[in-house]
Amino acid sequence: MNAEIKELIDELFEKHILSKEGFRKLIDQRDEEAAEYLFEKARLVQKQVFGNTVYIRGIVEFSSYCKSNCLYCGIRRDNLKAQRYRLSEEDILACCRQGHDFGFRTFVLQSGEDLFYTDEMLCHLIRSIKKEMPDSAVTLSIGEKTREQYQMYYDAGADRYLLRHETASPALYAKLHPADQTLVNRMRCLQDLKEIGYQVGAGMMIQPPGQKTEDLVADLYYLKDLQPDMIGIGPFIPHHDTPFRNEPAGSSELSLYMIGILRLMFPKALLPATTALGTIDQKGREKGILAGANVIMPNLSPKAVRGKYLLYNNKICTGEDASLCSACISNRMRSIGYETVISRGDAPGKMPHF
Ligand code: 5AD
Ligand code: FES
Repeated sequence: MNAEIKELIDELFEKHILSKEGFRKLIDQRDEEAAEYLFEKARLVQKQVFGNTVYIRGIVEFSSYCKSNCLYCGIRRDNLKAQRYRLSEEDILACCRQGHDFGFRTFVLQSGEDLFYTDEMLCHLIRSIKKEMPDSAVTLSIGEKTREQYQMYYDAGADRYLLRHETASPALYAKLHPADQTLVNRMRCLQDLKEIGYQVGAGMMIQPPGQKTEDLVADLYYLKDLQPDMIGIGPFIPHHDTPFRNEPAGSSELSLYMIGILRLMFPKALLPATTALGTIDQKGREKGILAGANVIMPNLSPKAVRGKYLLYNNKICTGEDASLCSACISNRMRSIGYETVISRGDAPGKMPHF
């Protein structure tokens, strides 16, 4: 590690921001020793804010139908080989109930952009979950909608919304998406969600085709501006039935390094050690926590459909059932000295809305 990198990490630790040039150097000139130093600092902050606890959020992937066509994604509209399924409200409730029995108090309802579910159906679903499990937070991750729709779901009781910005660089965004999916609309969605009062999650992929260091710096500056409650990042992983089938996967090494940077920038943010990180590296999620992450999002979907929600190749946990994943996560966290917690785990300082 050169002296300048150490100074940059110290500066980031103290001021939570660097100049664009500083971030560029911090990323481009990294080596193993720099990463170790960064992770040490990130763990210091993580321990101060969250102790040795890791929050668990159960994800229910309730539909694999999608009208969007992101070039990287295995459930994109044009992938005619993708297996499509939809869960009914009763199916979804059963998954949440099972998670609740494990002690989970946050349910993330995620799907492709599927117009089969009307706003009325979604609001009914949200109300049903909140009625049966009033001590739980409901998180939606169902893509780009109008402000009015976001407001309806919020009024029905949804607490949080995850919508990764994917990349804050307009040129890169255009390479990863068809022309009718714009970064402007993506950012409009995130702004609306914040203004309505949701706890918001954003985030980017690490090393999708064509990503440069300056694109990552743009992501960091966008996040600084947005101040999301959660930031989900993970390596790009190719999917065999997409236009990016032959592109190389992003590295776990850079993904972990970016988690370390994010922890120093956003001491209180919820940073998940993502499934993509666990897929690219067998110990990726453990390493993610040790780099500063503090959330894990195990799958609560029924076993019968897990193998059909494939955004990328070799996704983990597609053969396990929910109870197995829940126990597996606790064991994995215990093995590195962390305990899983079953509370709602609101971002520190955020009032839950009931
Ligand atoms: N590799 C890694 N992450 C992906 N996602 C979608 N496709 C891929 C892929 N091939 C991520 C996107 C999306 C989230 C649900 O999954 O960032 O927002
Ligand atoms: Fe699913 Fe380990 S988390 S098997």
